[in-house]
Amino acid sequence: MKKISPTLALVNISQLLTLRSSVTGPRAGKNQSDLGIIENGAVLISGDKILEVGKTKSLKKKIPRKTKVINAQNRVVTPGLVDSHTHLVFAGNRADEFEQRILGKTYQEIAQMGGGINSTVTQTRKASPKELFNLGMERLNRMLSLGTTTVEAKSGYGLSTESELKILEVIKSLRRKHTIDIVPTFLGAHAIPEEFKIYRRDYIRILTEEMLPQVAKRKLAEFCDVFCENGYFTVEECKKILETGKSFGLKPKVHADELGNTGGSQVAAEVGAFSADHLVYAIDDDIEKMKKAGVIAVLLPSTSFFLNSRYAPARKMIENGLSVALATDFNPGTSMTESMPMVMSLGCLNLKMSPSEVIVASTINSAYAINRGEQIGSLEPGKKADLVIWEVASFKEIPYHYGVNLVQTVIKNGKIAFQNK
Ligand code: NIG
Ligand code: FE
Repeated sequence: MKKISPTLALVNISQLLTLRSSVTGPRAGKNQSDLGIIENGAVLISGDKILEVGKTKSLKKKIPRKTKVINAQNRVVTPGLVDSHTHLVFAGNRADEFEQRILGKTYQEIAQMGGGINSTVTQTRKASPKELFNLGMERLNRMLSLGTTTVEAKSGYGLSTESELKILEVIKSLRRKHTIDIVPTFLGAHAIPEEFKIYRRDYIRILTEEMLPQVAKRKLAEFCDVFCENGYFTVEECKKILETGKSFGLKPKVHADELGNTGGSQVAAEVGAFSADHLVYAIDDDIEKMKKAGVIAVLLPSTSFFLNSRYAPARKMIENGLSVALATDFNPGTSMTESMPMVMSLGCLNLKMSPSEVIVASTINSAYAINRGEQIGSLEPGKKADLVIWEVASFKEIPYHYGVNLVQTVIKNGKIAFQNK
């Protein structure tokens, strides 16, 4: 058999966070903080895959002279970050609502006055695919520069068959064009559109009988998500939508218990969702049921931060063995940030997660939340060569030094995709 030789090597890594573990699947409990660190580490890459990880001293001997070598100069290397919950494609912004909230109005009050999700829907429906594509590219570039190499992207600002398909087609073009890997999610159940306010059953019928079949037929999404909340979709509606999605091959996800304890976690457990996201108001019984059903808790602390509201009970989740992932929830209303490092800092400060726990949550667990745990999220032979070199010598400095970009180099599919000058 021909020996595979490395095409790229990284050496002199102060701490190589491989995220290898003796357990498989999403990490929980004690394993939620298992970083699989190799001190003085090195990585050998062949094409777009990891060939080997180990100590610099032993791997150096295996590097042929013609192989490109990056000297990490005693910096930390982690797997590329995985942002498992974003609303990537929308037009316009809601900076005015941001100001209204500062002056005392709540998110729900603003939505009732004609702002909120439906105001972004109006702007997104008017936008051309080209405009939406350009906005998507700008946002993905920002994400890449902050260390994200895989991102989940939801529709949900179209809320008509035509506009939802338009957004998902834009996501498809972005997938082709951008180096970041994108996992598409259909979120037709994001809000009841204005024109269906008194005919909500008709909207649900269109969603299940028109949108879902078309999304599936055109293979435009892998997941189906719902916003289960008072004023949005009821428990019964969510179950129906997610079960219909499942019948078309779409994997379920739920926006659950974000603004109150309204049954979203229970829906996630019942339908066997890959993840339940937000979970600010989840209670002990919810945590137990989700754990039993193998649901991953995707926590979004930047949303709580942005809304100046409560934070999810992350400690309780980890102590009870529920796997926790982190994501940005990037969207114009409740979390206008592309920054996973910012989310990691908030995870430490406000969810009381340790630096190790937030790193596991932002890599391997986030990967499992979007069904990519076997391909990405850790640095092991055969996995994708997606990694980040950070301008720090110890991993604890990543969430500690916040509000600045500590990313030095991003390697995506075995190639340098971003370098901080
Ligand atoms: O995840 N919860 C539903 N969707 C978003 C908010 C979207 C918006 O306000 O535009 C969220 O918080
Ligand atoms: Fe969201």
